[in-house]
Amino acid sequence: MTVPVPVAAGRARLAQVPAGLHRFGGESSCTAVIAFISDIHANLPALEAVFADIDSLGSVDGVYCLGDVVGYGPQPVECLEMVASRCKVILMGNHEHAVIFGAYGFHAPAKRAVDWTREILDSVEPLPRRKVLRQLIEGLPERHEMGDLLLVHGSPRDPVMEYVLESDLWEGSDPEKMDQIFNGFQRICLIGHTHRPGVFTTDRCFLASSEIGEGFDVSDGKYLVNVGSVGQPRDRDTRACYTLYTGDAVYFRRVAYDIAETVRRFKTVPQLEARFAERLTRGE
Ligand SMILES: [Fe+2]
Repeated sequence: MTVPVPVAAGRARLAQVPAGLHRFGGESSCTAVIAFISDIHANLPALEAVFADIDSLGSVDGVYCLGDVVGYGPQPVECLEMVASRCKVILMGNHEHAVIFGAYGFHAPAKRAVDWTREILDSVEPLPRRKVLRQLIEGLPERHEMGDLLLVHGSPRDPVMEYVLESDLWEGSDPEKMDQIFNGFQRICLIGHTHRPGVFTTDRCFLASSEIGEGFDVSDGKYLVNVGSVGQPRDRDTRACYTLYTGDAVYFRRVAYDIAETVRRFKTVPQLEARFAERLTRGE
């Protein structure tokens, strides 16, 4: 839900901002509101709903994509072209990497989806459109820095492949993993990949977006923020997820979309496993 909030001069300017922005009303050098999307996974109805939500906010100054535009889903070309037309930066996800270099380490159904995605991209007509898409996907960077923000798909120490999970905080997990990850960035690192939105803190806590509520103050300290998944959320909330950053806070946005329509489009592609569609109806 959004409500109109007066915005002070020099601060982020949105016609509408998520309720709660005023809670983080300290002085901020930020004059931009940025949206981060990730893990679209060729789910066009979800992507369209997210961009409609971003547009409804009034003046988000830029959208950045943290990778996995393709994979699993039925509309990779449409999603790649929409993301390319709307985003300032698109990072390499492990599914783009698999399309280019091969789906090593993927389970069989995911590999079939990658192979089908590659076939679709290789058969796009006309040829110039195919070349543009090919150059786009082959040229994706693995990381992007902007001020004190680091953007990667996976983790700072392995930008494309590594998962950072809540279980990495549990007793018995590799004690050096989170230390090395937090040493790998300056102040705020934004990631995707796990499809589970929330904030990792330096005191080794994970706050799921569902626990955070309206927004989370990141004006001071060091944080690893998972921005969630547009096209395949796995936190038992079926709505598309993306994240706004205002310079002093992050806001996790959930957007309802027509899941039944995405499921219908899945069924037109026999190479895609039925459970990839079914899981959308459960958010897992
Ligand atoms: Fe993903």
